[in-house]
Amino acid sequence: MLTLQTTLRAIALEEPATIRVFERFHLDYCCGGRRPLAEACAEKALDTTEVLAALEEATRGSDAVERDFTQATPTELIRHIVQTHHAYVRSELPRLLPLAEKVAAKHGPAHPEYFQVGINLRQLGAELINHLAKEEMILFPYIEALEASRNGNGNAPHACFATVESPIQAMLHEHEAAGALMEEMRAATNGFTPPADACPTLAGLLHGINDFERDLHRHIHLENNLLFPLAISMEKEAMIAQ
Ligand SMILES: [Fe+2]
Ligand SMILES: [Fe+2]
Repeated sequence: MLTLQTTLRAIALEEPATIRVFERFHLDYCCGGRRPLAEACAEKALDTTEVLAALEEATRGSDAVERDFTQATPTELIRHIVQTHHAYVRSELPRLLPLAEKVAAKHGPAHPEYFQVGINLRQLGAELINHLAKEEMILFPYIEALEASRNGNGNAPHACFATVESPIQAMLHEHEAAGALMEEMRAATNGFTPPADACPTLAGLLHGINDFERDLHRHIHLENNLLFPLAISMEKEAMIAQ
């Protein structure tokens, strides 16, 4: 139950999605979290109505409405993927990586699986940042140009590869590698379940990685199952038309 009398720690443990809100308002939910929300807000001169509304919004989740992309054009898909999923990866990694380091330092000695989570997350982050850059700089512009040319806006694009299937194959392999790293973290943490005595930082990290995985699955689904097949068929059509 979310009230002004609930402690920040209790809210964060009950609803880990609220941790983002605490971070946004710079409210300490961890070491200094054993006090009522009203007191913490008063100290920072925060509007309690605004903070409560943001906390409630976070607990409702942001993915209640799933958009249907099956009729979307390649360019619409690309815009959505970059603005939603690539932006999410870029905003979540700098938040999750320091949390993972903090958790590894505090809990790693007794629970080596948290060292492993830190290593996996760092590797995943480094690989994903490169992956997004390749999509945004090479593959996606080519697909957009293919679509523009099909619609009569310009010539068929020149590429540094024989067919779009080559970079797509590379992206598919990288998706599998990312999925395998997520899977390792999931297995090491019992499905991202915090232990009964977890501190809010650990609960927040596991919740954050769980959300990250969910977003990655949607992201990869849009690319593997919708965008890439559309790109391959557009290129084939363009070759036949030549
Ligand atoms: Fe992507
Ligand atoms: Fe991708």
